Amino acid sequence: MSDIIDVFKERRSIRAYEDRPIEDALVEKIVQEAYYSPNAGNKQLLRMVVCKDREINDYLGKLRHAVTNRFWWPERFPEGTDYRKITDEDLATDDTVNSFYDAPVVVYLFSPKEFEFAEADAYIMSNNLCLIARNYDVGSVIDSVATDYFVTERSRQILSDWKLGDDYSIRAHASLGYPKGGFPDPVPHDKYEPPLFVG
Ligand SMILES: Cc1cc2nc3c(=O)[nH]c(=O)nc-3n(C[C@H](O)[C@H](O)[C@H](O)COP(=O)(O)O)c2cc1C
Repeated sequence: MSDIIDVFKERRSIRAYEDRPIEDALVEKIVQEAYYSPNAGNKQLLRMVVCKDREINDYLGKLRHAVTNRFWWPERFPEGTDYRKITDEDLATDDTVNSFYDAPVVVYLFSPKEFEFAEADAYIMSNNLCLIARNYDVGSVIDSVATDYFVTERSRQILSDWKLGDDYSIRAHASLGYPKGGFPDPVPHDKYEPPLFVG
């Protein structure tokens, strides 16, 4: 059982990836194994889209970034502007990196809009995806979603092509790929406060 602790300690968030693909069979294995994750009520409602299409990942990664960036993008989004009116021209002016860091594979995690544990399930699943990936020497990073960003015509078309239906909402992502420069050392966990042990 000690191996799992090594994986746990050696997983790091990777934000730069080698330009080489992960074998399909390995991606499938990671995703299937992650589906053993605990989930609320064992309803298993989470749906994953594994996207290797770099052009789509680049577009959605930028859109996701821009929608979040609206908070500090006052010239385009003065207070009160509806961020859902973001356009593809806006994205072209957004010179920030895409939220998925050009990873060769992005796993999009969706769960039902009306499910109260949807986010909790997505985060548990995405963390397990990252741990399992590390077990196979694949790097990863979780990307959180505070706001549904599928707001442009093109993104809605992509969503419709993915055939999840209207009841599902994006909750999180796990980007996967081989880390450029290898895995960094573990982050120092110097803020650890021993818990209060009772009884
Ligand atoms: C709920 C959650 C959301 C996160 N969202 C992002 C994100 O949007 N972008 C990102 O680069 N990293 C994100 N991370 C990764 C954290 O920044 C990272 O885990 C933390 O800095 C510790 O570093 P480590 O993962 O390398 O140990 C997220 C992690 C969690 C648990």
